[in-house]
Amino acid sequence: MAVERTLSIIKPDATRRNLTGKINACLEDAGLGIVAQKRIRLTRERAEGFYAVHKERPFFNDLCDFMSSGPVVVQVLEGEDAIAKNRRVMGATNPEEADEGTIRKQFAENIEANSVHGSDSRENAAFEIAYFFDDSEIVG
Ligand code: CMP
Repeated sequence: MAVERTLSIIKPDATRRNLTGKINACLEDAGLGIVAQKRIRLTRERAEGFYAVHKERPFFNDLCDFMSSGPVVVQVLEGEDAIAKNRRVMGATNPEEADEGTIRKQFAENIEANSVHGSDSRENAAFEIAYFFDDSEIVG
């Protein structure tokens, strides 16, 4: 299996509850290295650009409001099979459907305020990483 990089976001519901450290521990315990990380506040426009693929979905407006409602931690994770591995560690989008022990099962408030985001493909990971980080900010 190949070493990959994926984009992770710790969302405003989690930063508000001081869960950054606990979520990072879940990621690191699963063998994912945090090779870049910054805490930022998204403008609504930047949230809209990030989630442009969901523009036509009914939840798009609420999602962009939520993602710009408080600080987020954007991070690049690196490891063997990192994209799929991170999605296993996060659990299902809807916390009611997430497996025991996953980040969303433990911490998510609901399907929108679901604590973390993770890229779902190599193509999206490349776009999402470049959306927030210059190469010089990623230290493997
Ligand atoms: P994320 O993995 O960041 O991708 C899109 C986000 O939209 C998702 O997590 C949720 O925060 C949010 N969302 C809100 N409602 C839904 C829904 N019905 N289906 C999928 N995603 C939703």
